[in-house]
Amino acid sequence: MEYRIGVIRGDGIGPEIIEEAVKVLDAAAHRFGHKFNYSELLLGGASIDAHGVPLTDEALADAESCDAVIMGSIGGDTGTSPWYRLEPSRRPEAGLLRMRKELNLFANLRPAYLFDELKAACPIKEELIGSEGFDMVIVRELTGGLYFGERHTSEVDGVMTAVDTLEYNADEIRRTAVKAFEIAMKRDKKITSVDKANVLDSSRLWRRTVEEVAKDYPEVSLEHMLVDNCAMQLVSEPSQFDVILTENMFGDILSDEASMITGSIGMLSSASLNDTSFGLYEPSHGSAPDIAGKGIANPLATILSAAMMLKYSLNLDKEARCIEAAVKKALKAGYRTPDIARKGEKGIGTSEMGNLVAEALSTCSV
Ligand code: IPM
Ligand code: MG
Repeated sequence: MEYRIGVIRGDGIGPEIIEEAVKVLDAAAHRFGHKFNYSELLLGGASIDAHGVPLTDEALADAESCDAVIMGSIGGDTGTSPWYRLEPSRRPEAGLLRMRKELNLFANLRPAYLFDELKAACPIKEELIGSEGFDMVIVRELTGGLYFGERHTSEVDGVMTAVDTLEYNADEIRRTAVKAFEIAMKRDKKITSVDKANVLDSSRLWRRTVEEVAKDYPEVSLEHMLVDNCAMQLVSEPSQFDVILTENMFGDILSDEASMITGSIGMLSSASLNDTSFGLYEPSHGSAPDIAGKGIANPLATILSAAMMLKYSLNLDKEARCIEAAVKKALKAGYRTPDIARKGEKGIGTSEMGNLVAEALSTCSV
């Protein structure tokens, strides 16, 4: 089959890690007889440099016309990059938020699991992790809440005041909950819905709506957890979680925490989905400007995001599993980029890791 894939190289280490994901996608295409046609799109700092805005209408329309989009990471050093001297609506992140909103990418999936091969990198004591390790996916609402509520800053009686609004309607909650329940059905059938219902009205509506959705999924067990407790449980007993369902801001914070306990944020993929098969796929980590251009960034999160893209948007399950198996093979053979290297080891470079995964793919049979 032939597919059209949007490619956003992005900023910082983005171009380096995307290069490897494309390499691996091409190896998968070759192995299974598909053709991926790539359409290069600009988003973030690269788009500001070229066009003065973080996302042009043309790039947005182009993204929408693709079967799926894969992205490196965007943004720069907020302290030193000139992009951060622009007003907030013209900065790199504003382009990403606009793309999420305009393409209606309301469900953000962020898996966090412990690779057997990387157990030593997990910062949590072995007795707390348990022998099974952990394997969870965070389903984060992505187009509502504090990120998109009304905001303004004003001066009242000589005192600066800033307002951000946290607003959700039941439809926004419901559609995200449905995605989470559908995913739970294919996993261990357990959902932890995370909110702050002891304080926030929006959380009380969240809870009520999630309970309504749960009625359609009697096989899935649902529990509610307050966000502060969840932050604690993630580091004290991570194996209790299967699917975590939560709103935009809580999901942003908890997904960083969840990724840290896997040992390296350089390993985690993510998908942002709407109610069609289209999706935007990107690593969970940022653009790491401090190591950009050095050829040492870990491309595995982006490669695994490419696998998610094959699975969720292109319906190429076997191909996706082959990429995952190829990543495992490289890790099992002991190859590590510096971020996951064992003490005293130097590790291999970005493109070397990409080559290893691509090579492993050529013989994969799952
Ligand atoms: C993320 C990032 C973004 C977010 C930023 C870059 C706007 O932290 O994808 O988690 O907060 O959603
Ligand atoms: Mg974040």
